Amino acid sequence: MTTTQSRPQASPRTVVATVAVRPTSTVRATSTVRPTGVERTLGQDEIIVTKTDLRGRITYANDVFLRISALEEDGTLGRPHSLIRHPEMPRGIFRLLWSGLEAGREVFAHIRNLGTDGAHYWVLAHVTPSLDSAGRPVGYHSNRRRPSTRAIGEVEAVHAHMRRAEAGLGASDAAEAGEHALHALLAGRGMTYAQWLWSLEDAE
Ligand SMILES: Cc1cc2nc3c(=O)[nH]c(=O)nc-3n(C[C@H](O)[C@H](O)[C@H](O)COP(=O)(O)O)c2cc1C
Repeated sequence: MTTTQSRPQASPRTVVATVAVRPTSTVRATSTVRPTGVERTLGQDEIIVTKTDLRGRITYANDVFLRISALEEDGTLGRPHSLIRHPEMPRGIFRLLWSGLEAGREVFAHIRNLGTDGAHYWVLAHVTPSLDSAGRPVGYHSNRRRPSTRAIGEVEAVHAHMRRAEAGLGASDAAEAGEHALHALLAGRGMTYAQWLWSLEDAE
């Protein structure tokens, strides 16, 4: 994967988060950070790396992740990964992510994240289960790089379609409706999710 150099202006600020156990056994953070509309861009040589436990709590974060998310390591480890959830991310994308991981598959997804100072950044994430010597999952690992410029515009439009399908529904129903809307939209274009995602990245 290729990446570029960037020097995002990270200004660390504390995020208030509440953590609750969900029926799915993942953990959730509720961020009070408001998006400012400021966008940061990952450099072409930069890779964000984080690892989590099986419930999605961060166990490792590299410097690129901390800087672009305006986080400090001390306030990050042990927190749910939803710490940097952007409110405009459709629930259906995270449903697709977790169902893939729980089935033992690698998952690719375009994700918009929210730094603790309100700036956002787009990534193409590759998330995989980490297995022990007996092949049992012990956590998850994510590498992310900068998406293609074209991908961001296309993905924003698809996410908006998913959000419309999710509007007014409870969390679980919304996630299901959003993921269904994604696959239906792409099926109408004669594409699977993977074909669509790589068509956006192969274009550059
Ligand atoms: C390894 C790994 C990396 C993740 N990376 C992100 C991420 O970069 N941004 C994000 O919003 N959620 C990420 N998630 C998903 C979160 O755990 C969570 O499902 C998501 O933020 C939605 O949170 P919510 O269900 O509380 O709305 C990641 C999960 C795992 C296991």
